[in-house]
Amino acid sequence: MRHAVLGGGKRLRPFLVVEAARLFGRDLGDGAGDLLLAAAALECVHCYSLVHDDLPAMDDDALRRGRPTVHVAYDEATAILAGDALLTLAFDLAGRPEADPDPAIRLALVTGLARAAGLGGMVGGQILDLAAEGRFDARRRDLAEAEIRDLQAMKTGALLRFSVEAGALLGRAAPEDSRRLTRYGEILGLAFQLADDLLDVTGDAGTLGKATAKDAGRGKATLVSLHGVEAARELLAGLVREAETLLAPFGARADTLVATARFVAARDR
Ligand code: IPE
Ligand code: IPE
Ligand code: MG
Ligand code: MG
Ligand code: MG
Repeated sequence: MRHAVLGGGKRLRPFLVVEAARLFGRDLGDGAGDLLLAAAALECVHCYSLVHDDLPAMDDDALRRGRPTVHVAYDEATAILAGDALLTLAFDLAGRPEADPDPAIRLALVTGLARAAGLGGMVGGQILDLAAEGRFDARRRDLAEAEIRDLQAMKTGALLRFSVEAGALLGRAAPEDSRRLTRYGEILGLAFQLADDLLDVTGDAGTLGKATAKDAGRGKATLVSLHGVEAARELLAGLVREAETLLAPFGARADTLVATARFVAARDR
């Protein structure tokens, strides 16, 4: 195997949609609506965010999933338009009757996805991420910590959180279960970006399928740049323990989601 993620990516967000729905008795091919439509919608938004994140005006990266980024393989106009097309396709998929027989659920999917992707979510987080570039001051520790957590909760956390929420929505989860899963999604989001920032320092570019040491090079504000690798690893372990505690009331039904939190922290790609 030349590259573990060549051409694919981990597909974590669609996986979370399906696994969260499975917690409430839904499954693929159960005849109650096609979980893969909402799952694919989440992956479309995520892939669009990567194509745009790699553009020269943003992180200016040449390698993604072991291949040249879209603007390198084609050109910038194609990358901008490919992103636009993926974003709009997401709402086409989430709004289709096959996604769920109940129009109210489809509406909640579409508006929830829009909010997670938009100014109050991923896009807003990317704005804050770029604005913090090079202006990050580790001496203002308390402020920096809160700023970084907020921007990461938006740029990465919002879509991961909504992936779990979409699964709960499709599974008709009770309000208390939904709130618990939302919190799990938030913790997973923070853990995911923390692991991404650690891998930028400690990971192997060949395994990751993207360049490393980008964050320090661009002066990105991350919890790793603020606290260092060891403290960031401890923070990550604490988040996994928090996720385990949150999911404990679901018992063995949540084993896969517990394993997902552990995977997110231990991953090397
Ligand atoms: C990378 O996401 C971008 C971040 C949100 C940190 P992933 O690590 O999920 O990327 P793929 O989809 O597996 O390539
Ligand atoms: C990206 O974060 C978050 C997105 C919304 C795409 P990064 O900029 O750290 O992701 P990588 O390291 O390029 O995958
Ligand atoms: Mg970025
Ligand atoms: Mg980037
Ligand atoms: Mg990164």
